[in-house]
Amino acid sequence: MMDDLDHVRVREAATLMHTYGRQPVAFVRGEGAWLYDRAGRAYLDGLSGLAVTALGHAHPEVAEAVAAQASTLVHTSNLYFTRPQIDLAEGLANTFGWSDARSFFCNSGAEANEAALKLARLHGRRRDPDAVHVVALEGGFHGRTLGALKATGNPAKHRPFEPLGDWVTHVAHNDADALRAAVDERTSAVLVEVVQGEGGVRPVPAEVLRAARDACDRVGALLIVDEVQTGLGRLGSWYGWQTALDGVPVRPDVVCLAKALANGLPIGAIVAHGEAAKVFEPGDHATTFGGGPVVCAAALAVLGIIDRDGLVDRAATLGDRLAERVDALAVAGPLVTGHRGRGLLRAVTLDAPVAADVTAAALDDGLIVNAVAPDAVRFAPPLTLTDDELDEMLARFATAVDAVAHEAS
Ligand SMILES: Cc1ncc(COP(=O)(O)O)c(C=O)c1O
Repeated sequence: MMDDLDHVRVREAATLMHTYGRQPVAFVRGEGAWLYDRAGRAYLDGLSGLAVTALGHAHPEVAEAVAAQASTLVHTSNLYFTRPQIDLAEGLANTFGWSDARSFFCNSGAEANEAALKLARLHGRRRDPDAVHVVALEGGFHGRTLGALKATGNPAKHRPFEPLGDWVTHVAHNDADALRAAVDERTSAVLVEVVQGEGGVRPVPAEVLRAARDACDRVGALLIVDEVQTGLGRLGSWYGWQTALDGVPVRPDVVCLAKALANGLPIGAIVAHGEAAKVFEPGDHATTFGGGPVVCAAALAVLGIIDRDGLVDRAATLGDRLAERVDALAVAGPLVTGHRGRGLLRAVTLDAPVAADVTAAALDDGLIVNAVAPDAVRFAPPLTLTDDELDEMLARFATAVDAVAHEAS
């Protein structure tokens, strides 16, 4: 007899395009840091979607904000003013500490990067019609739409869709000299993450971020920081650029946000200040759903909760605790060699390419993490995790590591 999961598999294979390799579980409910399958089995979510549900699943105050807005006003188009969009823009400006911040809202991380790249192109072309080029980092990930894909520093993802144009130069994520050399008068923007999420949770050295800022200033280009994965407290600061690797801020012109902004509802945003905030004029860029009242109400609730509950500092504290636990695992047991990342975005490194096996064993154990590289497992748990949940997460992970090590020996 087909069990429930087999049945789901068959239905999906018949009806959905095969874009995703799914893990063998179907969730029906979530609460806080826990997800539940149809049989009621609980899984500890060490990944928050992919760094999305930072306040945990089904946060009651976000749910209430969504329900209240959904029963009041869902959509008007962007031909009209709506208050939640303005409230959210004001809320975001406060988190940046930029009195002249302006936002544009869209629907995803890729769209945020597209908006930022278009903005930079307009800005560049006012200086020099050829200033449409972008410098980005190898290993960077910016999304799957054609522009964001081109900016993504992973040639294997480009190849099936080429040609994608020759307007992006990629340099190594840790080579400040190469970055300086790549930026010239034709550069409209340098696009970087502070910690490369999909690229393996690799922090970008402060000297590279500083070189990016200096190079942009030298030629009049914009520094775009893609904080789609790192923003909104995950790194233990509101935004990664505020602390860089050495704790000194590197001020971007434009910041891209998405994932955690509405705790799971689709939203993207770019936030700019100074000259960059004034580039777009009516007709330059738009989206039907962007800045809709419901997602904006959800995102405003998210910002309020992060602020009220001190979740930025909490992410830093939990991140330190996670790092300590992983250090202990590295000393005590097999496979684990250490960790990289910041706050609650971490990759646990392994001494063999068995991250997928460890992830599968963890799922068996009721823990959700993912293989972000063949030899690295990503943790991006909710910022609302309790100390006990964090310890439980690491205990389950240790069991999974032991199981894989045992199998290999
Ligand atoms: C840094 C970064 N930028 C952009 C994206 C693309 O976001 P989306 O999948 O919402 O288009 C991602 C997604 O993982 C990301 O991590």
